Amino acid sequence: MASNSLKPTFLTEINPDYAAPVYFYDKFPLLGASCKEVMDQVTDLEPRKDDVYIVGYPKSGTNWLQILLSQIYQDWGTLRENEQKRIPLLEVSEKPNLNGFQQFDKASSPRLVKSHLPYHLFPRKHQEADCKVVYIVRNPKDSCVSLFHMMKGFRLVRDEDWADHMTRFVQGKMWYGNWLDHVTGWVNNAGHNIMIIHYEDMKKDLTSAVSRLSDFIGHPLSLTECQLIAESGNFDNMKKTALHQINVGGHLHQDVSPFFRKGVAGDWKNAFTVSQNEIFDTVFDQKVKESGLKISYE
Ligand code: A3P
Repeated sequence: MASNSLKPTFLTEINPDYAAPVYFYDKFPLLGASCKEVMDQVTDLEPRKDDVYIVGYPKSGTNWLQILLSQIYQDWGTLRENEQKRIPLLEVSEKPNLNGFQQFDKASSPRLVKSHLPYHLFPRKHQEADCKVVYIVRNPKDSCVSLFHMMKGFRLVRDEDWADHMTRFVQGKMWYGNWLDHVTGWVNNAGHNIMIIHYEDMKKDLTSAVSRLSDFIGHPLSLTECQLIAESGNFDNMKKTALHQINVGGHLHQDVSPFFRKGVAGDWKNAFTVSQNEIFDTVFDQKVKESGLKISYE
């Protein structure tokens, strides 16, 4: 267990290539709220067999997943023991409500945590520990649009021009780097302890997604239980009830950009011009096909 006296040194950069303050760990762009001391401990973390990690590129539906999972098994140590009763973000160390690693580290089992880390920076021993990782994939066009709106809602962001944002996304000049590298890094390494789930499939049939999730974490539920969780986890219901469970809540100006924004697949069509769509397809489509990934844009 890490020492509670861990003193983070923040080396956040204002880098002209990035819209928001960023911290480079081993040259990889993380949130400005991450730091070396914590990241060193995160990569060396000893996962426990009954840990569940929710991972995804930002704006892929990671919070949706965390709220569903927190209902599948209601006795998570992480939720019982942290002050905010929220699932922490593993790699950040900003206080008061985002010192994820420390909260996770001291929680009793079973623990539930969220992370946006790429595969190569994830706790190294996760496979041998045989813990569970659920990795969510959302189509990059919708993630890009969703991220644009979220960044508008953050005080930290320098500019908020859609065309600039899209260009940076394509270049991977974003927190957590390039979408394709992130997704393929995880998907290509998916083993028995990593489940890949798609946002668009959850939109189409949430009950069966909940059923697959519950089987995967070793806590199978009946059809009725899955239906109840799916009902409470639909977008409209979560918008009314779940804001207090979201980690970004305190940082995001909900009046500028609500966290529960649209929650649909295919919203990118309202933002992309024809030529922006072509740029995206040129950069991502071929590589997505080569990787064997099936991405749905609706
Ligand atoms: P939009 O901005 O497109 O609406 P993350 O949790 O990884 O930050 O992802 C946020 C995205 O997931 C947002 O997308 C948010 O609205 C969407 N989302 C959150 N809860 C959802 C739900 N219950 N159903 C569908 N989408 C949801």
